[in-house]
Formats: sequence, C-alpha cells, structure tokens
Amino acid sequence: MAFDIEMIKKVYARYPERIEAARKAVGRPLTLTEKILYAHLSEGAASQAYSRGVSYVDFQPDRVAMQDATAQMALLQFMQAGKSQVAVPSTVHCDHLIQAEVGAEKDLTKAKDKNKEVYDFLASVSNKYGLGFWKPGAGIIHQVVLENYAFPGGMMIGTDSHTPNAGGLGMVAIGVGGADACDVMAGLPWELKFPKLIGVKLTGKLSGWTSAKDVILKVAGILTVKGGTGAIVEYFGDGAKSLSATGKGTICNMGAEIGATTSIFGYDEKSAAYLASTERADVAELANGIAEHLTGDDEVYANPATYFDEVIEINLSELEPHVNGPFTPDLAWPISKFAAAVKENGWPAKLEVGLIGSCTNSSYEDISRAASLAQQAVDKKLVAKSEYTITPGSEQVRFTVDRDGFLDTFGQMGGVVLANACGPCIGQWARHGAEKQEKNSIITSFNRNFAKRADGNPNTHSFVASPEIVTALAIAGDLTFNPMTDSLINEDGVSVKLDEPSGLELPTKGFAVEDAGYQQPAEDGSNVSVVVSPTSDRLQLLDSFKPWEGTDLKGLKLLIKAKGKCTTDHISMAGPWLRFRGHLDNISNNMLIGAVNAYTDATNSVKNQLTGTYGEVPATQRDYKANGIGSIVVGDENYGEGSSREHAAMEPRFLGVRAILVKSFARIHETNLKKQGMLGLTFANPADYDLVQEDDSIDIIGLTTFAPGKQLQVVLNHADGSVDTIQVNHTYNEGQIEWFKAGSALNLIKAKA
Ligand code: F3S
Repeated sequence: MAFDIEMIKKVYARYPERIEAARKAVGRPLTLTEKILYAHLSEGAASQAYSRGVSYVDFQPDRVAMQDATAQMALLQFMQAGKSQVAVPSTVHCDHLIQAEVGAEKDLTKAKDKNKEVYDFLASVSNKYGLGFWKPGAGIIHQVVLENYAFPGGMMIGTDSHTPNAGGLGMVAIGVGGADACDVMAGLPWELKFPKLIGVKLTGKLSGWTSAKDVILKVAGILTVKGGTGAIVEYFGDGAKSLSATGKGTICNMGAEIGATTSIFGYDEKSAAYLASTERADVAELANGIAEHLTGDDEVYANPATYFDEVIEINLSELEPHVNGPFTPDLAWPISKFAAAVKENGWPAKLEVGLIGSCTNSSYEDISRAASLAQQAVDKKLVAKSEYTITPGSEQVRFTVDRDGFLDTFGQMGGVVLANACGPCIGQWARHGAEKQEKNSIITSFNRNFAKRADGNPNTHSFVASPEIVTALAIAGDLTFNPMTDSLINEDGVSVKLDEPSGLELPTKGFAVEDAGYQQPAEDGSNVSVVVSPTSDRLQLLDSFKPWEGTDLKGLKLLIKAKGKCTTDHISMAGPWLRFRGHLDNISNNMLIGAVNAYTDATNSVKNQLTGTYGEVPATQRDYKANGIGSIVVGDENYGEGSSREHAAMEPRFLGVRAILVKSFARIHETNLKKQGMLGLTFANPADYDLVQEDDSIDIIGLTTFAPGKQLQVVLNHADGSVDTIQVNHTYNEGQIEWFKAGSALNLIKAKA
C-alpha cells in the first residue's frame, strides 16, 4: 500500500559503506542491531564508536507511524512547524478509539459516529501533509505496518509502545512520544541513548502446542518487566530462522513488556516469504542483494557472550506452552505447572472469556491454528464453556481468514468477531457486568495484562497466552485444563481430547482484501483545509508559545513543591483524560493533579499566593496566568519518569509555568520540556530543595548570558523578607538554548522553514 520502494533503495544503497565505516570505528564484528543503528546515524557514516548505555546519538529514522490517540497532539504540533509535507514517509492508524461491545459491524459504525471529528481531523491533516491514512476498521497499527511498511534493515519510530512489532521483519522499530514523531516528520534527527544489547539464542524447533508467543512469555519470565530496560533484544540461531515472520513479530511486539527499547530478528527465508506473500517481492529482492548486512556477523553469533551485554539461550524443542499472569506479564507459568498455581493462589479457575487476536497475535498462522481447535470443538461435540472473541489485526487478515472459512468455524464455536481494532486490549471494552467488580478470570492472546486494563475491573484476573492455548482453555472454560494431557466431556458424555493445533504460516491462495481502508494523501495538499471545529472539546489548534522576553525572570510564584515520585502520570493523568489528548486547554485541567504537595501531603491542593487559600493546581495556575504572573514548579528526584507523553511538558508551558526546578529529571521529560521552550533546571545542591518555602516569590537570574554548562542563580524571596540565593544546573546545549529563546523547538523550525 504505497510503501516507498525508492526510499528502501536509498537506505540499502548506503548500507555497504556505512557498515564498513562502523566496523572500522568499532573495531570488531557487529551485531545486527549495531549495523542498523550505525547505518542510520544522522551524521552519516560513523566516525566514532558509541558507548552502549552511555552515548546519546542522533539518528535518522526511515518512517513514522502513529495511532489515533497519540497522533492528535503529534500532528497538531507538526502543523506548527511550517512545513508543507512530512520529511519522511509517515502513516496514521485509527485503531484505539473503537469500543468493543457487540461485534465488528455495529461497534465500528458507533465508533465512526462518536469519534467523527477526531477521524475527520486526522484524515484531513494526513491528506494535507502527505501522510498515509488508515481509516477506522483498517486494522491495528502494528499489524498494518508489518503487512505494508516494515522492511529488513529499516529504522522506524512509532507513537505506540508496541511499535517493536516490526522487528519481526528485521526493522529497528521504537515506540516514542508525539513530540519525537513531530520532530522526525519535520526533518529533525532523533536522539536515543545508544542501547545495550541482549542476545537471545534460539535453538531447536517449535512443535505441537508450542508457538512463537511462548518464546516471549518465557523470556518475560526470565528478564521480568524491567530486565530489558535500555536494551535492544536481538534474536538469532537456527531456532530463530525456523520461526515465521509473523511469529517473530509477536515476540518483538511483546518485548515491550520487558521494558526493551525494541527487539529484532535478522533477515532470512521466512522474511522473504512473508514479503512475497504481502506483495512485496521487490523488497525481498532488494534485501537479498545486501543480505549479509541484514544479519549479525557470524563471529558475533558464534561467541555471543563476547559481543552482547547479556545472553539467554532457549531450546524451542523443549519449550512448553506458557500462561503468564495475572496482573503482570512476567509471571510465567509453563502449562504443566499452571493448574497448581491457579489452585494454590486461589485465582478463579472458571474462565469467563477467552480473547484472541490483537496487534500481538492475529496473523494468518495464529488464526488458522486457533481455528483448527475450534473445528475440533465442533467436530467432537464440545460446546465452548467460555465466551470467546476474535480481534483481527487488519482488514487484510480478516478478509483472508474469512475467505478461508476460519471466521465461520469460530462462529460455530460461539465466537464473536470484533472490529479490526484495539478494543478490549486498551480497555475499549463495554464488558457486560464489569462494573460489579466481581473477581473473575479472563485469558487473552494480547500482550499486557495489568489490573483494570481490559475491562476496568480491578478484580479481573487477566492471563496471557498463545491463541492456541486461549482457544483450548475457552473450550474447557477452566483455567486448570491442560490440553496436552487432559480430556473433556462432550455433549454425548464421551471423554475426548483435543489434538495438537495445526495451521499454515501463510495462506496458500495468498492474502486478499476488497477495501483495505487506506487513504492516499493528495499529491499537492496546499489547498486541503484541516477540519477542526472551534467549539470542539476534543480538538484544539495550537498557538505558538511566546518567545523568551529577553530578561531574567522575576517574581515567579511557587505553584507546587512536589514531594517524592512525580511521574508523567502524576503530571498529566491518563484514564478519562485520554479523551482530551487533542485539546491542550481541556487536558491542562489535569496538570499535576496527581503530584503530592510537600507542605501538606495532599494531592491537587496548593496555596494560591494571590488569595492565600488552597485550591486545585490547574485552577490556581490559571489564576496566576490570568493575572500575568509566571510560576515555578519544584520537584524531587527523577521528576517526569514514566512515559514520553509530551502533554506533561506542554500543559505547564501552556498554563504559564516558566520553570521546573528539581533534584533530578527523567531524561525524556527533560528533553520534552526543552522542546516546549520551558526551563528545566536542577538544584546544584539537592539539599537546597528544603530551602524552598510555600509563599516564596522566585527570581531566575543569568538568562541574558544563558550558556551551555554555565549555572543560573535562583533567588528565593521568602515571605518573612529573608532571601536565599542558590545555584542551579542545566543541560541545555547551544541548539536547545535557541529553542528556549524562540519559545519552543517548533518555533525555531518554523522560523527556519
Ligand atoms: Fe492496540 Fe493493544 Fe496493540 S492497544 S496497538 S492492540 S497492544
């Protein structure tokens, strides 16, 4: 679907030279990850080696993909950059806003109506600025990307944490915030700390009940939800080559659950077969031409311990199917031990719902193998005891598996096909009775199973497994059922056993689709107008932030001194606020409402220095803003940790906060603040945090000579007339100081456009 073959040719053309330069700079054989990263340096061919886990490096990604919830602010910001077209191929995918209730058709119609203004906006911006637009119903971002855009050796960023799914086709694909997407679309480089490398050697071959999902369920058990932080996980070995491209995609997708930056497999015959099957034989041909660069060097894989920071080995021939959970994806149980765990922990053994599909597990292989079990249920007169839903990852997969009869088979088993969208996976599930908050169990082939994620009920015990295991357990209606060893009693009272699932990696008749749901952008979008209603409460066009006034900042009021953890969730809460992701004014009403006031230990209550009374944080700040008074937020350690959500930086900037002064920052949030033209400062002496008093009026001195590495001074004018002057640090480089002066990075881009 309009993938850019010319772009791929250009990327591949520079590979040999860049790999040679990288080998010279690094002075040893290279992993696949290093090859791709060094081939995408924004400086061009490498002139130096970068230190893993230390160096911050600028990259030049080949593509950007955005889902509809995060695309709104990314595109609103992009519109501020003054560009007529996106600088790299980019796409928007409408998948997160469709609620699952009764079934695909009705749910989709309802969503189109409910989210019309958001869809119209995204469609018109895409049309104007040259982005591919995938309509609601077209499918889930990662599946659509895998089918259409992912290519071996490429580099992509996406505004969704499961962007790594494209690693299944050998792409370094990384989840980012909207501000990063905006920068890359505007032609700026993208910065990443050079990752550490975890090697996973796969030997043997999958068989029987085991599937690719079990590899990542096992890896999650080994590494836990934090084990991959700051690292790229590279899979290799004969076992890796035996997996289908979509199976590899599943493994990379769920690598997000171990905190990995991304995961990747090398290019092999399975990749070529998938590319050919999805009408991209020309990409496979190009990849064949540089195949030696699309995998790690032989020496690396022969002695992985020398070249990776950590190595794990898994024998696929010995791997058991796994069930992970509840409430966390790293609690891994081999199926043979799961029944005992259910009993010992008192988890509800009765299985209420089995849900297959999602971006993680809705390949042709997944669906055909699950359908083989559904067919057995029908043939063996087994009535499925649990509810059962199927979420296809794309219209192409849905159409193809429908053509091949699998959806009909699921229907005979009592399955309900949901829209090609995120649905229950992101809590868009109008689950009947969930509001009663009863203790119950569900099992999904999705990737995340945190409390409340699927249906909002904190007592729903959610487990994760392969589509095959989900289907078998849904037939049994019982979490303690082990399909490898146990039998079931059918309608005739006869004891029957399920045979091993079987399926096909790729459809023998090829993929098919009537309307994939794609909208090609206008050749020349200059006359396209972007649709945003001025009365909308969900969308609001952005105004440029004001440039710095050229003086020191004096008389700032302390808005809040936050105590302890202050994550991006504390600064800009999710949940019901997601609705306002595209409306900066409205979403700003959640600014810092989760932060703990250091003077009172209360949340969302701060002293308004103009009135002397306590009020909500956003309302207090709006009062300062209305009176033309700037303010300052003081925080503790690792301020802004959590996500890359740019709203956490935009909201204070929008409401008139002038500086965030903390003991230390989470780096992504610090960068986001800088991009929005905000001052992000740290106490030179962290103990000075204690000097800040509730009624302080604060000056920031030294801005007229603001320079890299040079401290600024903060004057704390206390209410009793005493004064403390403290030194504060910053990490602004020359370019970032220009962002501050211009009012934001986008203002600067616009000025240069
Ligand atoms: Fe959507 Fe769930 Fe995947 S929210 S993108 S289906 S992880």
